[in-house]
Amino acid sequence: MPWRYSLRCFNCHTDYPARTTDHVCRKCGGLLEITFDISPRRIPWKNRSLGVWKYREILPIDDDRFITSLNEGGTGLHRCERLGRELGLKYLYVKNEGENPTGSFKDRGMTVAISKARELRKRKLVCASTGNTAASLAAYSAKAGLECIVFVPAGKVARGKMLQVIIHGARIFQINGDFDQAMASVIELTEHRKGFYMMNSLNPFRLEGQKTLAYEVCDQLTNKAPDALVLPVGNGGNISAIWKGFNEFYDLGIVTRRPRMNGIQAEKAAPIANAVKRRQDRITPVVNPQTLATAIRIGSPVNWTKVLRAINESEGTAETVSDREILTAQKDLAAKEGIFVEPASAASIAGLKKIREGGELDRSDVVVCVTTGHGLKDPSIADRLRRTESYNLKITEPNWIRRLEQVL
Ligand code: F0G
Repeated sequence: MPWRYSLRCFNCHTDYPARTTDHVCRKCGGLLEITFDISPRRIPWKNRSLGVWKYREILPIDDDRFITSLNEGGTGLHRCERLGRELGLKYLYVKNEGENPTGSFKDRGMTVAISKARELRKRKLVCASTGNTAASLAAYSAKAGLECIVFVPAGKVARGKMLQVIIHGARIFQINGDFDQAMASVIELTEHRKGFYMMNSLNPFRLEGQKTLAYEVCDQLTNKAPDALVLPVGNGGNISAIWKGFNEFYDLGIVTRRPRMNGIQAEKAAPIANAVKRRQDRITPVVNPQTLATAIRIGSPVNWTKVLRAINESEGTAETVSDREILTAQKDLAAKEGIFVEPASAASIAGLKKIREGGELDRSDVVVCVTTGHGLKDPSIADRLRRTESYNLKITEPNWIRRLEQVL
């Protein structure tokens, strides 16, 4: 059983019944979020193994019978000594979310949202997506035996992600426009037809799953929060959810401090980073956003209010990175640490480099970079890489070993 929770407007604090399926406040239009009754108490999960459902009491599913899982979470927190040395950081870690069942962090949220959908007896699940949400929703819908409908920007989704959506049997609507238009269509559809259940990060239950990344990082650092977290930002659900997670562990008395939250965006798709840099309290949407990191090609993020609050409250910052910087970071992480991530995820490493150069991090800070999706999702990047050394070797020749030694 979960601890007591309710649904509350993030802006005006109006309470809603826990079974409501609205995602914005009827009074002020603010985003809704789940609030748990949290105060320091005995922690029941200490001896359980790492993963999203380790923290079952603090996840808003009322009945265990509806829990649908593909074994998500429990991802590695990798100490990166070689890359850390180059960046002048003694304690650099990568929390590699590509290790999740469908290869991205979305699975953390999806296991909770799909369980809630079953609990609410919803049968038609819908999302707008740049690819990963769609892939994750398609897999979890297959597992639960529910109908999955995804809206994607035509021609702008990486091939690996499209393949996942197709193989899991989802129905795909390719929108002649970008992600922001796909998102607007899904909002309109779910407002007018209550039979369709919204599975984007506007759905507060999904964010509850995503907050578990913060819990895991604290557990993996033996009850300590890092000094700084660095992660890519698109629609803004993840950074807000993770900040909520750190706050909950802080309120429970498990950790005694919270990290600075640093959001990274691609230079031509950076409404949030632009607002943070200009010290504005609202974003200006970017029309026709562009980046090869298609996962974060978003100009009008729906969770922007939550993101600005997370960055400001935590005294973090935001940074922009170019496509070239993203590709360099992707190669660096793969070649120096053995971790292959998709371009959007590499943006966190590229952004970290810039934040470090800007003097905002100390050498002895504990820094965690979140890499959000697996590199194999986007094979198109191969065309942009410098060709690696490869040789034709005729192993039928008797002296082939000597020939090999000649080139090595
Ligand atoms: N990294 C990856 C690999 C993503 O797929 C996304 C978002 C983000 C970062 C940004 O996370 O939106 O919570 O700020 N992908 C969404 C999708 C938009 O449809 O898959 P966010």
